[in-house]
Amino acid sequence: MRLKDDQDLFPATLGKVKIERTSSMLNRQFYRCFASTSTMFLWALFLIALTASYISIQSLVLSSKNILTDKWGGIKWEKQVRNSASIQKQRGGFSVLVTGSAGFVGSHVSLALKKRGDGVVGLDNFNNYYDPSLKRARQSLLNKNGIFVVDGDINDDRLLSKLVDIVAFSHVMHLAAQAGVRYAMENPSSYVHSNIAGLVTLLEVCKSANPQPSIVWASSSSVYGLNENVPFSESDRTDKPASLYAATKKAGEEITHTYNHIYGLSITGLRFFTVYGPWGRPDMAYFSFTRNILQGKPITVYRGKNRVDLARDFTYIDDIVKGCLGSLDTSGKSTGSGGKKRGPALYRIFNLGNTSPVTVPTLVSILERHLKVKAKKNIIEMPGNGDVPFTHANISLATSDFGYKPTTDLQTGLKKFVKWYLSYYGYNGRIVD
Ligand SMILES: NC(=O)c1ccc[n+]([C@@H]2O[C@H](COP(=O)([O-])OP(=O)(O)OC[C@H]3O[C@@H](n4cnc5c(N)ncnc54)[C@H](O)[C@@H]3O)[C@@H](O)[C@H]2O)c1
Repeated sequence: MRLKDDQDLFPATLGKVKIERTSSMLNRQFYRCFASTSTMFLWALFLIALTASYISIQSLVLSSKNILTDKWGGIKWEKQVRNSASIQKQRGGFSVLVTGSAGFVGSHVSLALKKRGDGVVGLDNFNNYYDPSLKRARQSLLNKNGIFVVDGDINDDRLLSKLVDIVAFSHVMHLAAQAGVRYAMENPSSYVHSNIAGLVTLLEVCKSANPQPSIVWASSSSVYGLNENVPFSESDRTDKPASLYAATKKAGEEITHTYNHIYGLSITGLRFFTVYGPWGRPDMAYFSFTRNILQGKPITVYRGKNRVDLARDFTYIDDIVKGCLGSLDTSGKSTGSGGKKRGPALYRIFNLGNTSPVTVPTLVSILERHLKVKAKKNIIEMPGNGDVPFTHANISLATSDFGYKPTTDLQTGLKKFVKWYLSYYGYNGRIVD
């Protein structure tokens, strides 16, 4: 075998050999070349096929992952949404989409609407800005009262479109937001995500919905920023925000005005003044003071320039709920349809406050009395982290438009808060079963 190979390589006649050898070599090279080209071609084909199948498997995995991770959709889910939105009143009831419904204000407003016979569908992304288990507990309270809370983000336009397809909402009560003034220094993008991008996504879906819902949404007293006119009136300038939170709320007021102007959406913005009460927000001073006082930990009390005490127009949650319902009841219809304005629609902004500011040291002494424990106070000068020295609401506009009249003073409201706190967390701050 070996000899034959050698003979093939070295034939007897040299000249002939050269030609034959050359042509044979050419053949071989051509063959090798062809063989290697076709092999390469085959390999390339194989690789392309492999890559293509990898990509399609990947996208299949991703899409099935999306189907699995999307917390909404399906026949059962749609039925839950429809049932929750159904109006129990004989005539004139609303069907309301409440965003931020697992939040402090959202849960109270949802319950109040349901109680009077309106249909309510909640929406919340259950983010962990503060303990999500508190949001879940509020959600189960809503569930027990026949309110379904959709687990989703206001930036998800597919979800929002689906919701307005399933239910012809008469109103949207938009309370979902990144709240808190100081946290903006830690996580600024969360404010842009929820308070700007999320708001625009929601308005886009509402403007295209048929019928267009009327919108009531939460702005904030923080838009008054460094305003010194007392009490704060809606006509005061709001161009000196002291925090990114305030700036995003102010931006929200401008953005909603645009959607009202172009698309005929009826929009009411509510400037809440330091809301407190049962099921409240753990990041707020009255809440964290209560926790620390009960646990024997010191509390930090900020003081303004020249040792002036900070003061807030603390507003009890039930009064805020009344203001929200009053706004919904008087909001009038949106005038657009299919993204087109048919006439001017209502655009309003109201202060919802208590009209009687209380200093933070007074708040602490009321808590001490209700808790029967003395606070360990650590008094320091207010750092420049977004807080303002005082807030004070003029509520005459809301009073004249829909009879808004707060009735709970801080002493009474905090008593109710402490009662709830002790039943929910227990004396040492642990959850009571
Ligand atoms: N509580 C107050 O003192 C106060 C004062 C002024 C304004 N506000 C405004 O009132 C509204 C309600 O405040 P709250 O005190 O109930 O706050 P909250 O944090 O308890 O409630 C807001 C809810 O919105 C949800 N959320 C946030 N971003 C979301 C998103 N992108 N998609 C879906 N859900 C999202 C949160 O999970 C939360 O449950 C907010 O707009 C807030 O800015 C509150």
